[in-house]
Amino acid sequence: MVTAPIKVKYVPVMKRRFFKNIHDLPTLPTVLSKIISTLDDPRSSAGDLDQIIRHDQSLTTKLLAVANSAYYGFRHEVTTVSRAVVAIGYTEVRNLCLGMGLMGFLDPATFKDTPRAESLWLHSLAVSEGSRIISKWTGVAESEMAFTAGLLHDIGKVVLAAFYPEEIDELKRLMKKKDLSFPEAESEMGISHAEVGKEVAVYWELPPILVEVIGGHHRLHRGLTYLPMVAAVHGADHIACRLDMGDPLHPETTDVSKLAYKALSFTDQTMMQCLEDVKEQREKIVTLWQQLIGADET
Ligand SMILES: [Fe+2]
Ligand SMILES: [Fe+2]
Repeated sequence: MVTAPIKVKYVPVMKRRFFKNIHDLPTLPTVLSKIISTLDDPRSSAGDLDQIIRHDQSLTTKLLAVANSAYYGFRHEVTTVSRAVVAIGYTEVRNLCLGMGLMGFLDPATFKDTPRAESLWLHSLAVSEGSRIISKWTGVAESEMAFTAGLLHDIGKVVLAAFYPEEIDELKRLMKKKDLSFPEAESEMGISHAEVGKEVAVYWELPPILVEVIGGHHRLHRGLTYLPMVAAVHGADHIACRLDMGDPLHPETTDVSKLAYKALSFTDQTMMQCLEDVKEQREKIVTLWQQLIGADET
């Protein structure tokens, strides 16, 4: 290993490399930033979304392909964004655009480990749906923001897989050699995907609520400003893993934190009911995921 002068006592290799290079990462495409900014704006409407995506030919084409797919099963062809909004609904179209935009930006086909990247997006969609269901159940977190928070919660994993494949290979080697779990190997390497995700979220200027969910979804504490939202995503993460829609590198189902139960006013029984609701949506989630990851071929 090359020994560069280190100013602090101990800086883990991966962390040092990541934080040094963060500004070399691509910025979030404008169209995605604009879609995300509509989440924080209660006055946003279908017209705004139309304006945002109408100049993005690739996103519009993908949206119309999904709107005309068997997933929705409309009898008449959906030919424009505004018709898609009428047929599917504004929030659903916005969620689709966000999902497709992100998957286009961080395209699994370009990853070194494409199958894992694809699985990470399935996991993200499952956590989105779970977060939306939990927030609807509890009413303590806004359900459409919960969908986006779920979609982005593991963005740190996606970014690491996309831009730091050697570090991920090293992590895999550690897991195998020392028989470590994913979180154990992360801590051995000195950085977690939640930390990475948080840093990226700040760099991409995501709203504070998303920054907090991304950085805090594995370590809940009372100091969180958006604790109910973080708790909803944390619970949905657990549900997705239990339903076998986890990250293949990190399939362990971790216990739901007591604080999450408290923040959501949940019992084991309520959590199980939400799990059943997500399970009912499983086929829909998988169909949508297949549609989204294959959208380029349509
Ligand atoms: Fe995570
Ligand atoms: Fe996750």
